Amino acid sequence: MPKEKMSNTSFRFMNLTFKIMDFIHPYIKKRVKTFDIKSGMTVVDYGCGPGRYTTEFANLVGKDGKVYGADIHDLAVNHTKEKAHNMGLNNVETVLVKGYDCPLSDEVADRVCALDMFFMIREPNKFLNELNRITKEDGLLIIDDGHQKRIKTLEKINDSGYWEIMEETNDHLKCKPIK
Ligand SMILES: C[S@@+](CC[C@H](N)C(=O)[O-])C[C@H]1O[C@@H](n2cnc3c(N)ncnc32)[C@H](O)[C@@H]1O
Repeated sequence: MPKEKMSNTSFRFMNLTFKIMDFIHPYIKKRVKTFDIKSGMTVVDYGCGPGRYTTEFANLVGKDGKVYGADIHDLAVNHTKEKAHNMGLNNVETVLVKGYDCPLSDEVADRVCALDMFFMIREPNKFLNELNRITKEDGLLIIDDGHQKRIKTLEKINDSGYWEIMEETNDHLKCKPIK
């Protein structure tokens, strides 16, 4: 099992925690509006978890767009697929990531969103290289700190040489791929 893959029990506990958090403090709809996602775009929700963001992205890109929910955990992929189906969203597809290999073609994405997950990544260079591969030349990576300090996030991104930081807010960083 890859080091980053959590147990099924941990995944279920995380899912429950997210449900409670989203009930008490619903912020996702407002947050995704700052990601510069437009109708017709292709978005990869990398480390999609139970699909809280995937379905919001699907609403933003509309019927001419496409959203891939990608995760290393089969429960995440299954949850996201079921959630999209129950919401009648036909523009969502899920993909299971193996280690740092994502089964998507080169330069498929206008936006890759890696939210609340970068801190879990043990080999940031391999990870950031794979995200670079699937991002279009004029696409963007939207990444946040999760449970790590901003200085660490910056250090990992800059040291990788795969991304140029274009914009930084308290919430996230927008990065352009270095091809
Ligand atoms: C804390 S959850 C966040 C889920 C979602 N992004 C959100 O904010 O609701 C982190 C997710 O990243 C996934 N993950 C961790 N390492 C990964 C990797 N190398 N590739 C893909 N997904 C990964 C985990 O399985 C988990 O579902």
